[in-house]
Amino acid sequence: MKVLHVAAEVFPLVKTGGLADVVAALPVALAEQGADVRLLLPGLPAVMESVQGARIVIDIGSCFGALRVRLLLARMPGTQLPVYVIDAPYLYKRGGSPYQDSQGEEWADNLQRFALLGWVAAHLAADDADPQWAPDVVHAHDWHAAMACAYMAEHGPTEAASIFTVHNLAYQGLFPMQDWSLLGVATRLLSAAGLEYHGQLSFMKAGLKFADRVTTVSPNYAREIATHEFGCGLEGVVRERGDQVTGIINGIDDALWNPATDPAIAARYDAERLQGKRDCKRALQAELGLDRDDGAMLLTVVSRLTAQKGLDLVLAAMPELIAAGVQFAVQGTGEPALEAAFRMAQQAHPGRVHVFIGYDEARAHRLVAGADVIAVPSRFEPCGLTQMYGLRYGTLPIVRRVGGLADTVVDTDPGSVASGRATGFVFDLAVPSAFERCVRRAQASFENIAQWHALMVNAMGRPLGWAGPAKAYLDLYATARSEAVALETGTGIVKA
Ligand code: ADP
Ligand code: GLC
Repeated sequence: MKVLHVAAEVFPLVKTGGLADVVAALPVALAEQGADVRLLLPGLPAVMESVQGARIVIDIGSCFGALRVRLLLARMPGTQLPVYVIDAPYLYKRGGSPYQDSQGEEWADNLQRFALLGWVAAHLAADDADPQWAPDVVHAHDWHAAMACAYMAEHGPTEAASIFTVHNLAYQGLFPMQDWSLLGVATRLLSAAGLEYHGQLSFMKAGLKFADRVTTVSPNYAREIATHEFGCGLEGVVRERGDQVTGIINGIDDALWNPATDPAIAARYDAERLQGKRDCKRALQAELGLDRDDGAMLLTVVSRLTAQKGLDLVLAAMPELIAAGVQFAVQGTGEPALEAAFRMAQQAHPGRVHVFIGYDEARAHRLVAGADVIAVPSRFEPCGLTQMYGLRYGTLPIVRRVGGLADTVVDTDPGSVASGRATGFVFDLAVPSAFERCVRRAQASFENIAQWHALMVNAMGRPLGWAGPAKAYLDLYATARSEAVALETGTGIVKA
């Protein structure tokens, strides 16, 4: 099975969130199960500088406003994973984030930048870009890659199937309708049955409408996005796809996130030897200038600071929780108002609250290893990776019952404790008092040393790697591919 993953970011070259982690780890896991996997990425500066052994596959010439576009084939650094890179300096060679300039404004030419990504994917699928290789399945991630599905549908039936994964429905890739001619698609695609979304062009809708199969990054989020509450206005489109929308939970890279081998943390540990975790906590308290206090429950947050993440609940509950003895170590970047509020919290509570506004991978590992609990009180959460990092490090998650958080964390109650399934603490309402009560419940367990130990062992024993999810994707690819072949050859016979 030849699979092309199409995405805007990949760890460690370009990362704004969990998407990059998934795009780095899932292809490797698929390859381990026998698939022939390649990536397709825009040639952002970090990608151009880091990939190895690049050679030109095809000189595309001028398109999407760029004079010089070439398709390169290289390898991801430190792996054998082949990666196609779109070398288009006019569109991709710039600072800032993949999506925004340094002022936080969306790049004005994002339509061209990400249409090109999908267009090249569709040409690879149509077997007219690389004479040596064409995918059986194109797997497009988030709105950035979604146009691949529309361009593939435009090309008419091929044997290649398209899979579209929604990592976050809240970011949709909306553009002015008057820019439609830049896309180079037939006008019939621009109606409400196609890309049109309330008078705008929606790349997200291109994926939802035209992919052969749609997945989300947790089963619960697949159900949620069919509802008004979580559907971001696209719930009708999701519902129309019926059982062609399914959820496959993300894994984590369990080699990178492994407390037994992690070079970034103060001491190594595992479920049988937890001494190292206490050392990590002491080292973290010292590093952050928090009071050295084994008895204080240390709560961490490692997160983008956006409304999605529900961190206003943490801020509101903080004074009461500090009075109850909880310590806080927060790391994140994002909305200026949240950054400022967390900075003020640190000033108000020296020794009890530490806040780092910034992005730092190694530091994130030290926080996850050194804390007792990790809070993810999101308003919505398609999957969430940090609660899984917490599970792996015996740092028990305190999460809201939404999306993938509900699928990955089992609340602590007498039943789940007795059956050995409890792995964290779950609350329902997005209000500070519900979060506070949940943290207080965690604190009560924390003070019961035997119970806490059992919970850590449960959490650390959960299988969280990519092997299971990769198998589920391979099954889905096989189904979608056999349907595409049947359609293309006109047999109508779909093998299971
Ligand atoms: P999302 O993709 O919505 O941001 P996830 O939980 O899926 O949420 O993934 C977030 C990823 O980004 C995790 O790998 C997390 O460790 C990382 N991360 C978020 N903020 C920071 C930060 N300030 N420093 C280091 N890593 C961060
Ligand atoms: C998105 C979601 C997050 C998910 C990640 C990787 O950024 O917000 O919940 O874990 O994608 O799939």
